[in-house]
Amino acid sequence: MSYALLTFQVADRIATITVNRPDKLNALNDALMAELGLAMAEAVARSDVRAVLLTGAGRAFVAGADIGELVDQTAVEGKARAERGQRTFRQFETSPKPTLAAVNGFALGGGCELAMACHIRIASEKARFGQPEVKLGIVPGYGGSQRLPRLVGKGRALELLLTGDMIDATEAHRIGLVNRVVSAESLIETSRAMLTTMLAHGPLAIAQCIEAVDRGLDMGLDDAIALEASYFGMLSATADKAEGMRAFLEKRAATFTGT
Ligand code: COA
Repeated sequence: MSYALLTFQVADRIATITVNRPDKLNALNDALMAELGLAMAEAVARSDVRAVLLTGAGRAFVAGADIGELVDQTAVEGKARAERGQRTFRQFETSPKPTLAAVNGFALGGGCELAMACHIRIASEKARFGQPEVKLGIVPGYGGSQRLPRLVGKGRALELLLTGDMIDATEAHRIGLVNRVVSAESLIETSRAMLTTMLAHGPLAIAQCIEAVDRGLDMGLDDAIALEASYFGMLSATADKAEGMRAFLEKRAATFTGT
């Protein structure tokens, strides 16, 4: 598959998707959103890919939805655009393969929302985060009003949503918006290292952890732990569970097959 507005490179079982529209600070126009959806579908479908690293070219991760495309949208078009984008971001969130946003610069509006849809966020010290939609007279449309409070709590989310202010990487880390802050030079290396740690583990277990958290978070505790018990039981029937436990007892590294 070839892409015009992003690059897709696979090395050591990690697909690196680099949003590549640097002259517009990687603003998400409809064409780029469509390519992001295709790229995630490719990553999930390919057997030589086990994890996804998402980053941006130039000085932005993604500076938001392309305001040039939003300016003339009708109410009906706006709702449809938000729903399309939400479906695309959900692909990152529900991927059975870990998705990690390596946030290299501005992550504003749709960029912050895209990072939040990934399983993990690692920020360069140059990263800046914000949900500035209110400055444009709109609300976030790609899940920001919902994922932000889930990540950082209601009060902090409302502060960001209502002020539209940008915060730096240190503050984003302090409030729990990002997992780690690293130097710009080590951003990709640190991100790859974390994904490589995950790749050593059983892929079925990884996928079920992601699904348990994604589905369970919006359930009551009793239903959520019942779901967990069913995954725990199901994985007991896998070759990966037999191998993982045998390897531990034999004091050797496990070799998982995803079966
Ligand atoms: N949509 C469309 N174009 C965008 C954009 C967006 N969200 N963000 C940046 N760009 C474009 C700028 O229009 C400019 O294009 P031009 O060179 O053709 O004029 C280019 O990217 C560089 O941006 P510029 O504003 O000149 O850079 P800056 O360093 O002065 O400011 C930002 C950087 C991120 C603070 C500023 O671009 C900004 O506020 N962007 C919008 C953020 C936003 O509101 N996002 C939410 C959208 S819903």
